[in-house]
Amino acid sequence: PMLLFNTQNELVSHLNSVSNKETSIGFVPTMGALHEGHLSLLAEALQHNSLVVVSIFVNPTQFNNAEDLAKYPKTLDKDIEKINKISKDVIVFAPSVDDIYEGKTVSQHFNFDGLENQMEGKFRPGHFDGVGTIVKRLFEIVKPTNAYFGEKDFQQLQIVKKMVKKAKLQVNVIGCPIFRESNGLAMSSRNERLSADERKEAAIIYKTISQAKDLFKTKSATAVTEYVVKTFGKQSRFELEYFQIADEATLLPCIRKSKSKKYRAFIAVFVNKIRLIDTISLN
Ligand code: PAJ
Repeated sequence: PMLLFNTQNELVSHLNSVSNKETSIGFVPTMGALHEGHLSLLAEALQHNSLVVVSIFVNPTQFNNAEDLAKYPKTLDKDIEKINKISKDVIVFAPSVDDIYEGKTVSQHFNFDGLENQMEGKFRPGHFDGVGTIVKRLFEIVKPTNAYFGEKDFQQLQIVKKMVKKAKLQVNVIGCPIFRESNGLAMSSRNERLSADERKEAAIIYKTISQAKDLFKTKSATAVTEYVVKTFGKQSRFELEYFQIADEATLLPCIRKSKSKKYRAFIAVFVNKIRLIDTISLN
């Protein structure tokens, strides 16, 4: 049967009682409101580990916007149902803010060698300190062998890898592909807040970055960026926050293309106050 723990003490004692040297613990950290994107990480974890832990915790320290935190969907019962449909052998960890932060709901400050200063870091001040704080805390509690993160949040994935490397943590961080709706829109808990029309039209985000990928074969990063800015300039419903073509390793903007580098496009768009992000590998 699926097990649910609400405190770190209970989770840790359970993990201690069932683990031995051979146990490999797969870990999928989430903020709940689970969709098929999350469940694809879970499926990957189940395939490669003897124990799988999913955490469901809406981490207050990574929200730079109070309204976004307040409106973040909380659907624990439904989430558990969805997990159960995939497997009855998953350990769910759904702690309270107090259990995790013990009265001090603040972030630790991190240096991620500049990864934190680009894109999401620029537009969501403090966000990655919050992510670093919670992921480090969760890794200390769960002690995973393998931890699964989506490429949907590619900057977060790179930052977690950097944190693990710098702190020499014993965990493999595994990136998983973006799961999309049939119209191409990247799945996100925030999609639930879109109207039916907005959700349909939000297909323009993936459509545009796919075109950007095509254009980047022959055009400069600047020219591709101009095209994307122009495309969103014609859209009244969508407001482009940023579009950046960056080096995957450093996340620094691509100034001049280099054959030896991997590039990726990153985009953030507002649809009626709801912020959506997406990303695509370019070469
Ligand atoms: P959350 O947004 O719930 O996402 C949990 C994990 O699911 C992240 O690794 C995210 O990249 C992945 N994910 C989300 N949508 C996806 C999609 N469409 N396809 C594939 N993977 C997808 O990211 C967080 O929570 C938090 O920052 C967290 C890491 C849990 C720390 O609080």
